[in-house]
Amino acid sequence: MKKFYITTPIYYINDIPHIGHTCTTVAADIVARLHRRLGDEVFFLTGTDEHGQKVAECAEKEGLDPKTYCDKIAPTFINAWRELNISNDFFIRTTDPRHEKIVGELLQKIYDKGDVYKAKYEGWYCIGCEKFLTETDMVDEHCPLHPPEKTVKKSEENWFFKLSKYVPQIIELIENPETNYIYPEGKKAEVLAKLKARINDISLSRENVEWGIPLPWDKTQSIYVWFDALINYYSATQFLEDKSKFWPADLHLLGKEILWFHTIIWQGMLMSAGIELPKKTYTHSFYMIDGQKMSKSLGNVISPQQLVELFGVDGARYLIARSFPTDNDADVGICRFKERYNADLANNLGNLVSRICKLGEELKLEDQKVIINDKYKILIDNLKFDEAIGWVFENYIDKSNNRLNEVTPWKLEASDPKRIEVLTECAQNLKSAANYLEPVMPEISKKIMNLLNETIRPLESGLFPRLK
Ligand code: MSP
Repeated sequence: MKKFYITTPIYYINDIPHIGHTCTTVAADIVARLHRRLGDEVFFLTGTDEHGQKVAECAEKEGLDPKTYCDKIAPTFINAWRELNISNDFFIRTTDPRHEKIVGELLQKIYDKGDVYKAKYEGWYCIGCEKFLTETDMVDEHCPLHPPEKTVKKSEENWFFKLSKYVPQIIELIENPETNYIYPEGKKAEVLAKLKARINDISLSRENVEWGIPLPWDKTQSIYVWFDALINYYSATQFLEDKSKFWPADLHLLGKEILWFHTIIWQGMLMSAGIELPKKTYTHSFYMIDGQKMSKSLGNVISPQQLVELFGVDGARYLIARSFPTDNDADVGICRFKERYNADLANNLGNLVSRICKLGEELKLEDQKVIINDKYKILIDNLKFDEAIGWVFENYIDKSNNRLNEVTPWKLEASDPKRIEVLTECAQNLKSAANYLEPVMPEISKKIMNLLNETIRPLESGLFPRLK
């Protein structure tokens, strides 16, 4: 059996889940479900990033110690993913002592390799991103991703990791098509251009951040939250029983703002520690809400709960998949989601199901095995969900609705062979569509397959109520 290990970023616990986190998690779930369906042994990991200055500050604002604060927020992520029928095999929290132990061990390996040194660092730091900013990162003297007050001047004595030592090796891997791990293609050029400019070493510890894992060889410092967080992908495979075979990861999914950490820093750390590198990273773009960046102050944040309430679990998953931001940012919004839901699900798919169940009740259907074709698999593996779903609609759903409109079986006698033929053909198409759409809409697909199992059964209530 082939193994397949897929991850999402672990989300900062200072926020509650929103549609941005949801899109990466749903994407990973669709890929994981397809691989399970194809017979792979899958390990799907997601979780929360719980250390660092940002989390400590949020806890303090709420008058809680950081661990109590994390214990309070972590369930909001766990429950949101449960509600969306996300099939993750484990949920990792970086405050898990089993993770903390492996982080310490991995850092010690980097130290033993002679890849660290102590130096003074002075520069601008964004607490929102939890990273030091370069001149080119800043716009109007602050980080463009967070409010200006999150950019602060820091002057510290830190331990540094010799990232620059590994740059030539990393460039070689990326430039070789056999070993390149950066997808989609456009991101590869972006990373290579930056790598070929000057690369500085990176600090791996913090002097004044108490909320973190102590550095094994210098307990006065804590491990920089990004070093701690990246290691989650590896640590889960080591501390969970029977999961070590899953390392290296087959696919890390991530948003564009954390490309550098996942394609360069992570690889440098693993090379230094003598651990195999992940095989593929896929970086997606961002959701914009009605043309604007999503932000609490603009009040335009969409939560996964809101989507489920409006569109149902599978409807929400479908809309995320259809609008998934691959190469470019995608503009989404509740109004647009409603239009798409009504057009594709209530009208198109929903109508087909009710027509077939009504007109074809009691018709016998032959059992027919649907083999997922390679074209579909490749599209899903490359997160081209819109194209993959579009292909299913075109070939099975639209085609059947058109056939029904053409033949108008409702005008024919129940025993007319033409009526039986067209309904059987369309019912088989619908079964194929449900099979293909199962990773995207697991429950609705199962319902459709049950309605069409051996004989066509009546539909008790519509699958997708039309929305106003
Ligand atoms: N904790 C770090 C990741 C550490 S992984 C070792 C972090 N967390 S985060 O909570 O800020 O989540 C960032 C991720 O959430 C993005 O990389 C992306 O996957 C998702 N998104 C957050 N906002 C988004 C949009 N507006 N649109 C799409 N996805 C976005 O960074």
